[in-house]
Amino acid sequence: MFNINDEIELNRRRTFAIISHPDAGKTTITEKMLFLGKMIRTSGTIKGRGNKKFAKSDWMSIEKARGISVTTSIMQFTYKNILINLLDTPGHEDFSEDTYRILTAVDCCLVVIDAAKGIEERTRKLISITQLNKTPIITFINKLDRDSLNAIDLLDQIEKELKLTCLPITWPISCGKNFQGVYHIYDKAMHLYVKMINKKNNILPVEHFSKLSDIFLNKKMDLNISLQICEELQLIHQIYPAFDKNCFLQGSLTPVFFGSALKNFGINHVLTSLIKWAPPPLYRQSNMRKVDPKEKNFTGFIFKIQANMDLKHRDRIAFMRIVSGQYKKGIKLRHVRRKKNIIISDAFSFLAGDRFLIEKAYPGDVIGLHNHGTIKIGDTFTQGEEIKFLGIPSFAPEMFRSIILYNPLQKKQLKKGLIQLSEEGAVQVFYPLNNNDIILGAIGVLQFDVVIERLRIEYKIDAMYKKVNIILARWISSKNTDNIDLFIKQHSFYVALDSSNNFIYLAPSIINLNIMIEKYPEILFNRTIENL
Ligand code: G4P
Repeated sequence: MFNINDEIELNRRRTFAIISHPDAGKTTITEKMLFLGKMIRTSGTIKGRGNKKFAKSDWMSIEKARGISVTTSIMQFTYKNILINLLDTPGHEDFSEDTYRILTAVDCCLVVIDAAKGIEERTRKLISITQLNKTPIITFINKLDRDSLNAIDLLDQIEKELKLTCLPITWPISCGKNFQGVYHIYDKAMHLYVKMINKKNNILPVEHFSKLSDIFLNKKMDLNISLQICEELQLIHQIYPAFDKNCFLQGSLTPVFFGSALKNFGINHVLTSLIKWAPPPLYRQSNMRKVDPKEKNFTGFIFKIQANMDLKHRDRIAFMRIVSGQYKKGIKLRHVRRKKNIIISDAFSFLAGDRFLIEKAYPGDVIGLHNHGTIKIGDTFTQGEEIKFLGIPSFAPEMFRSIILYNPLQKKQLKKGLIQLSEEGAVQVFYPLNNNDIILGAIGVLQFDVVIERLRIEYKIDAMYKKVNIILARWISSKNTDNIDLFIKQHSFYVALDSSNNFIYLAPSIINLNIMIEKYPEILFNRTIENL
């Protein structure tokens, strides 16, 4: 077990990700959080907008050309002495399987919703992934400085569409031009919104009220608005339950905050609750047993591999989430899948774009390892124990292309290149049973361009894509393998093998898939797969 100092380090860590539909304000919130917290280090980058400290990455020409970041950022900052690891999730065109997988490496998520738009498509998708792991969720409803949907309607929408119980912690007082601030239901305090003329002015006036009716006495607020907020708050007291930490930790109840990231209003409320309620690094299930973060022996798993992070280095980095024990420079680790022991003296993190070696790291932290093609996503590292962490699956792709070579003689190189790229999680590769096509599957469309670009630069292969009639994919499994054999016999045209030789059904339409699900109740059509 840990000594007392290590336990303090463990308990002061929170590891979370921010998820949202593009343009809801994720980048703005990240910037404000780093501003409010004492930033320690950033790994990778956040989207390069304005603030040069978080310079845009330039390790891939495709990123330069499109002005986006294809990579993940890991930022570390402290807030009120709590150390926060914030894992950025690729969001715009760079949305990919990585975005999903990062959610498997965090202990909590902050969901950002644009108050004028409500729940959008990407938010729905991401929440369904967090629900696979029952990850606790905090919700921030952003852009209250603009005209917004009615707050109660927004909460209704979250409850219905995301199947989450909402619990408002702050409550907005009007919106848009009339936005007055928020009432903090738990602190019984009114936080007044002051239009900030000077961006550095972050000290927000707070007025405390022992009784709701005292709000009327607040001369700064229009009487009609005071009346409305009192009515709404009374309704809230009747409708919503008390905070139940267990439901929050199980991912079924979300505390909700309102504010404006752009005006730096309300982010401090979220951070204060995050450090209070979000769990410190948690137990993690392996194929053999649950691993306690307080265990003395080091364990960790790889959730992301990033190629070409720095043109100067031209290498691949494996991102490892530490589950238990402690990383110390020079530690001897067991790479379980390869059954090899390695000494790690050069795990690193980044500071404003530059790498730096780290001496020590704790559960919840993410460290970068050099990877010369031997580390795969999902790999487990231990100090000798032969276990494999679960819950780092492959996700069924949502877009498909058939890849064709300009020069058919490069088929062998193409296969090799695709194996490596799929091991990094850049793309998934499928081999149909009935023909010699090679089908690529991805979650975000940009991955297809990245693959063509990297095949050209790194493997000297010129290839292009052909459209295919596939809408979605599901891995098939059954308790009785005869069922699978029969299914394949009858529908081999739509079945392929993935790079780990699992059978996957490539459906031409949702209707087709639903017919199959109905017709073959003994077969499971799985959205994720985990290779043990
Ligand atoms: P994202 O990372 O989720 O995609 O969103 P991002 O923070 O980039 O915000 C998208 C746009 O919304 C930005 O405007 C940003 O300034 C604006 N925004 C974010 N939070 C708020 C808010 O609380 N209130 C208002 N009114 N706007 C907000 P942009 O014009 O696209 O970019 P920029 O020129 O401001 O950088």
